[in-house]
Amino acid sequence: MSEIVVSGIRSTGNLHLGNYFGAIRNFLKLQEQHQCYFFIADFHSLTTHPTPSDLLGNTRQVLIEYLACGLDPEKCVLYRQSDVHEIPELYLLLNMNAYLGELERCTTFKEKARKQPNNINAGLLTYPVLMAADILIHKASKVPVGKDQEQHLEMTRNFAARFNRMYGVDYFPEPVAYNFGKELIKIPGLDGSGKMGKSEGNAIHLSDPPEVIRKKVMRAVTDSGPTQANQPMSEPVANLFMLMKIISSTDTYQYFLDSYNQCTIRYGDMKKQLAEDIIAFIKPIYDRIIELNNRPDYLKQVIELGADKARQSASKTLKEVREIIGFKAF
Ligand code: TRP
Repeated sequence: MSEIVVSGIRSTGNLHLGNYFGAIRNFLKLQEQHQCYFFIADFHSLTTHPTPSDLLGNTRQVLIEYLACGLDPEKCVLYRQSDVHEIPELYLLLNMNAYLGELERCTTFKEKARKQPNNINAGLLTYPVLMAADILIHKASKVPVGKDQEQHLEMTRNFAARFNRMYGVDYFPEPVAYNFGKELIKIPGLDGSGKMGKSEGNAIHLSDPPEVIRKKVMRAVTDSGPTQANQPMSEPVANLFMLMKIISSTDTYQYFLDSYNQCTIRYGDMKKQLAEDIIAFIKPIYDRIIELNNRPDYLKQVIELGADKARQSASKTLKEVREIIGFKAF
């Protein structure tokens, strides 16, 4: 059965391989099967960056990269949060039924408040309410997000159930996380530990030109090499092999695995091969990023189409919500 799916995309930072094998590949699958609403969360970005230097440029880059990966504006509704005025209105209405205690208890709020003690603004506090408005405005049932967003989603369910209870209706569904199960592939970083994107300099971006990819891969952390046959791998080396298993051919992977186990491996050779395979993998996406950068009219058309379609769904919900609360026409 086709479900209504909503997901927000952070509007800062270039996409990297980890994003591709995480959220993006799943978006590509979801858009084939469900009614999907994917949007760039530019309002949310103000909670941490209230005076952005290039809001439009950031949004544009994110849009380009998602399109380059294969998000299809004919199959899903792809839009910018700030184009849908119904979202902030629903946010205002939901704020009346969101309580200080529960908002203050939210882990992401506490974390961000610690990080920016001089800017603990009300938008930061009510971030989960805005996120709930994003989701409920389309009456979504599924939200493809990672573990770090689970608490926000639980708050969305609370706000939805509370709305239904307060106004004596069965209106909003209680959305749940879309579970990818085994399909989620975690991409390790190049700095020897953790996952890609966790720290600066350990990620390969989809917009990195070949020479940058070569440099980054050649600089990846390894160790001094195996000294006996079938020696267990150190974490940095295991990470490189994991990347190679995902990106390179089975033969290539097996060749370097064998040479590791026989202590004949030269990490420099392995990295050279891995870099070329990553470059080849990214090439179609990279080429499309360049191409889309030169098609401002197409981008304008995409973002306007998305805004239109998103507002159709959003205005229907908002009209019904206003009536439920009691804002009726004279
Ligand atoms: N909070 C999400 C994140 O940091 C982004 C987001 C905003 C979102 N609104 C959403 C995700 C609605 C899913 C649904 O990644």
